[in-house]
Amino acid sequence: MRRIAITNQKGGSGKTTTAVNLAAALGEKKRRVLLIDLDPQCSATSWFGIKNPDKGIFRVFVENGNVLDIISETNVPNVHLVPASSWLVGAERALAGEVGAETILRRQLHQLPSDRWDYLVIDCPPALGILTVNALAAAREVLVPVEAHVLALEGLAQLIQTVDVVKERLNPELEISGILACRVDGRTRHAQEIVEQLRGRFGNLVYNTVIRENVRLAECPSFGKPIIQYDPRSYGAHDYRALATEVIRQEKERK
Ligand SMILES: Nc1ncnc2c1ncn2[C@@H]1O[C@H](COP(=O)(O)OP(=O)(O)OP(=O)(O)O)[C@@H](O)[C@H]1O
Ligand SMILES: [Mg+2]
Repeated sequence: MRRIAITNQKGGSGKTTTAVNLAAALGEKKRRVLLIDLDPQCSATSWFGIKNPDKGIFRVFVENGNVLDIISETNVPNVHLVPASSWLVGAERALAGEVGAETILRRQLHQLPSDRWDYLVIDCPPALGILTVNALAAAREVLVPVEAHVLALEGLAQLIQTVDVVKERLNPELEISGILACRVDGRTRHAQEIVEQLRGRFGNLVYNTVIRENVRLAECPSFGKPIIQYDPRSYGAHDYRALATEVIRQEKERK
């Protein structure tokens, strides 16, 4: 099972859009995906139309609940969801000072049957706090969506530093598996320049696929569907399918 944390502490960089639509596009390719919503804003959870997730993953963090008890089906083939709830807002404080708080999620995920899902995808909140550190401790790979409007290189440097610290202290197998340029507006030279700068700085770490700006992607959460269902012929559907293909291809390259 590949374990991928979708992380960027910068708000609005495309994490949830990528988590949901990559999960759905992998599902369409017959890969079984467990999507974990780790954001107190619950954006991925409400995207799937789950309105009353009870306490969701909060139970796992603060009440020692079992992940298997809170997994929901979704209307997307091959995709299951571990919902978040606004209770998570209090998790940071509830866990402060608790011994082993950074590895709660990892210990819980160890209990999942290893052959039940092919991918575990974690949607992180826009902060480098205890929830994101839990995701980084539980994952093997980090996928970093970057909004291609303004290049926030300092923010990326800070994220990479956090990944390095988690790798050194908690999770030696953690790697950045890719940087994904999101919201690339093909009509402006500026967006292209940012993608080029990213490639110049991070080379092969940047996915060949770029996610173009596409209003259909912004619309689909209100309809409770991922882009491949909401508008299967849109640019957004095309781009996330291409990303899924590229993510799957990484497995062959590693062998
Ligand atoms: N390729 C795209 N084209 C158009 N709009 C997009 C695209 N990707 C994301 N958006 C929109 O940009 C906004 C931010 O995206 P998203 O919620 O995925 O970011 P996020 O990193 O999860 O944000 P947060 O940090 O708040 O969790 C949303 O309104 C989303 O609909
Ligand atoms: Mg989000």
